[in-house]
Amino acid sequence: MSILIPFEKDLDKASPNRNIAPLTTEIDSEERLCVGGVSLSSLAKQYGTPLYVLDELTIRKSCKEYCDSLKKHYPGKSTALYASKANSSLVLSSIIASEGMGIDVVSEGELITAIKGGVPSNKIVFHGNNKSISELRLAYDNDVIIVLDNQYDIKQLANIVKPGERKARLIVRFTPGIECHTHEYIKTGMIDSKFGFNADELESIFIQFKKIEWGNIIGLHAHIGSQIFEVQPHRDLADVMVKILEVGRNYGHPIDILNVGGGLGIKYTSSDDPPSINSWVKVVSESLYEACENRSQKLPLLMCEPGRSIVGTAGLTIYSVGSKKEIPGIKTYLAVDGGMSDNPRPITYQSKYSTCLADRPLLSGNKRVTIAGKHCESGDVLLNDVLIPDCNGGEILVVFGTGAYNSSMSSNYNRIPKPASVIVSKSNADLVQRRECPEDILRNDILPDRFIAKD
Ligand code: LLP
Repeated sequence: MSILIPFEKDLDKASPNRNIAPLTTEIDSEERLCVGGVSLSSLAKQYGTPLYVLDELTIRKSCKEYCDSLKKHYPGKSTALYASKANSSLVLSSIIASEGMGIDVVSEGELITAIKGGVPSNKIVFHGNNKSISELRLAYDNDVIIVLDNQYDIKQLANIVKPGERKARLIVRFTPGIECHTHEYIKTGMIDSKFGFNADELESIFIQFKKIEWGNIIGLHAHIGSQIFEVQPHRDLADVMVKILEVGRNYGHPIDILNVGGGLGIKYTSSDDPPSINSWVKVVSESLYEACENRSQKLPLLMCEPGRSIVGTAGLTIYSVGSKKEIPGIKTYLAVDGGMSDNPRPITYQSKYSTCLADRPLLSGNKRVTIAGKHCESGDVLLNDVLIPDCNGGEILVVFGTGAYNSSMSSNYNRIPKPASVIVSKSNADLVQRRECPEDILRNDILPDRFIAKD
């Protein structure tokens, strides 16, 4: 089957983001699909469905590929950060820390998860276009690098850092005016974006900061967008960033970090063909090196912030198949026990996924079906028009590539509890997020006395 791409020894071909399935995917002697040495149907039996499954080896392989490629291609210092908005949990923070990477966070919740998971605070970068005062205080108190997104951040921080206290470490985010081909909602680099300063405001920020005592501008940040397959936008970005770096340094700011954001795409379906992590890093590194050479600038520390390409293809979701509705001459709906609450991407971005049956992965499809969720919304469809073997209620269906922006974007729509998550490695599975129960959802409801029926 096309989804089963064998583990490749060649670094470029084995890049996790170029494989739909996790790298440890195999078929056991009973022809069941296994990941991390564990059969997916046995996980369904043990933990129930829907279930998020993460493959530890694939995550670690992505982290290593980012770190090794940066060392190989960039002659200066570098730090790879994991953009934890893709999937934030204690176990992922701990893996990231043990791989020597840093982390990018955008809220108090993500920040606490990173710290508790063991990521050193000097390797945490705090983003956000509307940070609260308590979030900024938490970030400053932990000596986290703070990304200045707008004047409101500057105003708030000025009240947080007291005279004589340690200076805040700041990176200035700006919109580089670079277009890329991806979904409208996940483009961020163009001029019309809610994030960051406009490039033409930066000189005045540099002037403003000459008089500011409470913080140092130590870096610049730009992020172009997400699920990008082209490398040209990042090639262009290097030049734009180094131009601004030069201006900032000329104003006397100790700018020694350029953070080029994330954005590398992953393979969701067989028609997707993203560049490998290694080739993306090579382009980013070489173009930054060249841009610095051209402007005679000392090489800054190169930071990048991948999210999707670290965890996306390491994850999959297993569902139980339930009801079937055949509309003669139109289509057949096969419903699963999850849907838009555990994976809002198809309904939000019309995202495509690949699927197969956990215990019959090798049987080629003979039934064209639409895999629907169980939510009360007609658009709650996970996969449109896919070929799978004729299938009965109770069978386990696998949706690949759900490691990024599924759990982190999940909701309780229709008061459906969120799935559990397990991590698999070396024939072992560990529960890393408990399944919610209806009581968890009810926990924050309050029924004031006057609404309680009296007899
Ligand atoms: N850095 C910044 C500042 C970002 O805004 C993002 C993603 C990243 C890094 C990581 O980008 P990645 O490497 O994951 O492409 N919910 C959408 C994706 C939104 C991306 C938001 N920002 C989706 O499901 O496709």
